[in-house]
Amino acid sequence: MEPLVLGIESSCDETGVAFVRGNTLLTDAVASSVDLHARFGGVVPEVASRAHLEAMIPMMSRAAAEAGHSLSDVDAVAVTSGPGLAGALMVGVAAAKAVAWALDKPLYGVNHLAAHVCADVLDHGPLPSPTVALLVSGGHTDLLLVNDIASDITALGRTIDDAAGEAFDKVARVLGLPYPGGPEIDRLAVSGDPRAIAFPRGLTSRKDLERHRYDFSFSGLKTAVVRYVQEQERDGIPLNLPDVAASFSEAVADVLTRKAIAACQEYGINNLQIGGGVTANRWLRAMAEERCAAAGIELRVPRIRLCTDNGAMVAALGSQIVQRGLPPSTLDLGTDSSLPVEQVQM
Ligand code: KG4
Ligand code: ZN
Repeated sequence: MEPLVLGIESSCDETGVAFVRGNTLLTDAVASSVDLHARFGGVVPEVASRAHLEAMIPMMSRAAAEAGHSLSDVDAVAVTSGPGLAGALMVGVAAAKAVAWALDKPLYGVNHLAAHVCADVLDHGPLPSPTVALLVSGGHTDLLLVNDIASDITALGRTIDDAAGEAFDKVARVLGLPYPGGPEIDRLAVSGDPRAIAFPRGLTSRKDLERHRYDFSFSGLKTAVVRYVQEQERDGIPLNLPDVAASFSEAVADVLTRKAIAACQEYGINNLQIGGGVTANRWLRAMAEERCAAAGIELRVPRIRLCTDNGAMVAALGSQIVQRGLPPSTLDLGTDSSLPVEQVQM
């Protein structure tokens, strides 16, 4: 019988609780506190922690009811123990420990970033091994070599300044759009011209590639957008928001896909997995599909709901760890807000 795993996610502003059996998603309950943060233009950690505290038990009850299971049916409890906001992580870890201790079930503290990469197991089955993975979220942008999602991840490159999602959110703010900016820019870009404005592609010059082959940089792009907006204002030209959104999205997607495909080719790997909140972006999904098809690389992208934060991906990763018979975490499990991507389990 495949293991029934309870997954708990609370690293940022989503409280997620899910039940996964083997590689199959049974239920996925998510409560978001994003509306509470919108007026501040970004996530307020203390507000997020309190919202997790209020939502955790209702989400557990909802997930259990929808799965037709009680908590005592689970074979293991998996929880995001890092990286993320310290106080927010603590709520999830405390809840997971309480369940594991009360019901005498093994506890697995897992990495949020590895969980993003693992989410697609629920849509497309076990990850091919090895695979190159591109992880693009609000706080991270990493290019990874994944030999085994449960135990063997090597970082090939990462952002040296802003994460891709952070760039979307900051540019949205400059354009006067509400938080979180990623979905807003995505929506606007649909009717824009991606070639209207030539925004820079960070770390793609020959000289930069020597030192930063698989690294990313988005702060120069953000500055270029700010400068463009200021120049238009100075010259009294009304902003064409769809064109700015499309040209910006094109610049982000271009660099992400170019470097990910280069990594596949240089490592001789024909699989690319993408995951994380920014993977919900239409531009990125379309460009990745087109370029992977042209390069003969098999692309895996999860459904949009599994791209942003959720408990399902945490349960999915927990299930991989359980299926490989790896040892559980101990009940003195802590949180690590800057847990490195290579450390899959704490
Ligand atoms: O993975 P995630 O849900 O949370 C973190 O672990 O950070 O990613 C959130 C990020 C935010 O920056 C948000 O603006 C971005 O993902 N995002 C998007 C889209 N949906 C969410 N960015 C671009 N296009 C989208 N459709
Ligand atoms: Zn995330």
